[in-house]
Amino acid sequence: MPIPVLTIDGPSGAGKGTVSRLVSKKLGWHYLDSGSIYRSLAIAIQKASVQVSDVDTIVEVASAMTLEFDCGDELIVKLNGENITSQLGLESTGSIASQIAAYPAVRGVLLKKQQDFKQLPGLVADGRDMGTVVFPEAEYKVFLTASAEKRAARRYKQLIEKEIDANIDEITSEIEARDRRDRERETAPLAMAANALYIDSSDLTIDQVIEEVINLIH
Ligand code: DC
Repeated sequence: MPIPVLTIDGPSGAGKGTVSRLVSKKLGWHYLDSGSIYRSLAIAIQKASVQVSDVDTIVEVASAMTLEFDCGDELIVKLNGENITSQLGLESTGSIASQIAAYPAVRGVLLKKQQDFKQLPGLVADGRDMGTVVFPEAEYKVFLTASAEKRAARRYKQLIEKEIDANIDEITSEIEARDRRDRERETAPLAMAANALYIDSSDLTIDQVIEEVINLIH
């Protein structure tokens, strides 16, 4: 029996995480937050004091790491048995994740870990290359984006709500730098799949985006 897959790709801060999680709940499908796999590896190499430039050792760390995901109300991730959830969302984690994600050998090791999430009754997969590389066969594909200013403003609000010190100009330039790295890398760059539905969430609410995505499936 074919397993239905919905891929939601796009730049950071476009609302992919929230939309994917809520849509997966509505459909009763599994959920893959592929960014959290790259982020977990970023945390693993920091713990092992491996340099971001040391690709061979990063590949070894990626091959050896075990990840456990608990996708309840909030995503809980364990790296080699240790709960690393609180470190996943840090800007520094995202930045290192984006740098090591540019190595083809690293992406190769992480490919199967992501494909293993494809199980009945279905999967919602969120990332940069879900519809182009990891699940090119997916029946439903969405490319979700928003302007860099809107994405920075959302990120700023999230940090302030968590009482984390934040500077809007720094967040905007970090988002722009990460976009550039993710779009310009040679292997599996952030790109829209040919048959994807394009949604710009700049002026949409989460509910409006979810409605468009659910309409695609129905
Ligand atoms: O979606 P995110 O912000 O959690 O992702 C963090 C970084 O991981 C992102 O900047 C690039 C990398 N990534 C990737 O290369 N491919 C994916 N499918 C998901 C994330």
